[in-house]
Amino acid sequence: MNKEKLRIAIQKAGRLNEDSLKILKDAGISIDNGKEQLKATSSNFPIEVLYLRNGDIPQYLRDGVVDIAFLGENVLEEKGDDIVQSLKLGFSKCRVSLAIPKSAKYNGIEDLAGKRIATSYPNTLNTFLKKKGITADLHIINGSVEIAPNIGLADAICDIVSSGNTLFKNNLKEVEVMMKSEAVLAVAPNISEARRTILNKLEFRLKSVLNART
Ligand code: PRP
Ligand code: MG
Repeated sequence: MNKEKLRIAIQKAGRLNEDSLKILKDAGISIDNGKEQLKATSSNFPIEVLYLRNGDIPQYLRDGVVDIAFLGENVLEEKGDDIVQSLKLGFSKCRVSLAIPKSAKYNGIEDLAGKRIATSYPNTLNTFLKKKGITADLHIINGSVEIAPNIGLADAICDIVSSGNTLFKNNLKEVEVMMKSEAVLAVAPNISEARRTILNKLEFRLKSVLNART
C-alpha cells in the first residue's frame, strides 16, 4: 500500500473552516477529528488536514509544509500572489473594500489622499492606491479594524466585507470595492508527482460537488 498523503491546510477557525470541511464531506472524504486538534487524517482518502491561521497559509504553501489549501483569494492577493489557484470553490464570498464614517462626505478616491487608513491588507491597499495615484497613511491592524475611526485612530478602513454587518454596526459606509473574493484551492509551487496524483483525484471529486451545487 502506498502511504503517500496529500497535506491540506484548512483555516483553523473562522468562516472558511466550516465550508471547507463541508466540501470535503460532500466529496465523500471523511475527516477523523482526533484528540490532536491541529491535525487530522481521513480513513477513506489519502489526505492529512492541518488547521492553520489563514494568514500563515501562503508561507506554508511556499515552504512546502503543506501541498494545498482552501483559502480566500483575498489572502492570496495580500500574501501569496506567487501561488497557483487551481479551482474556485464558490463559498466564503466577500470583497475587500474601503469604508469611511457614514457622516463623512465622499466624492471619490482622491478624498482619501493624505488620510489615515487602518487595514489588515496593506499590500492590496498599497497596490490599489498606487494605481489610483493616491498617497495615504496606512495603519496596519490585525483584527477589529472597523473600530479604528470610532476611536480616532483612522479616517478610513480597508477590510473584508461579507454581510456588511460589521460596517453597519460601526457606523461606516463602503465607498470602494477593491477586489471580490471567494475560497479557492491553492497549490504549493513544488508538489511531488505522487501527491499530484492524489491532487488530481481530489480535484475530480471537488469538481463533481461543484457541478452538483450549481
Ligand atoms: C471579518 C472582517 C470584517 C468582517 C466582515 O472580521 O475582518 O471585520 O469579518 O464580515 P461582515 O461584513 O459579514 O460583518 P472577523 O469577524 O473575522 O474578526 P477580526 O477582524 O477581528 O479577525
Ligand atoms: Mg474584522
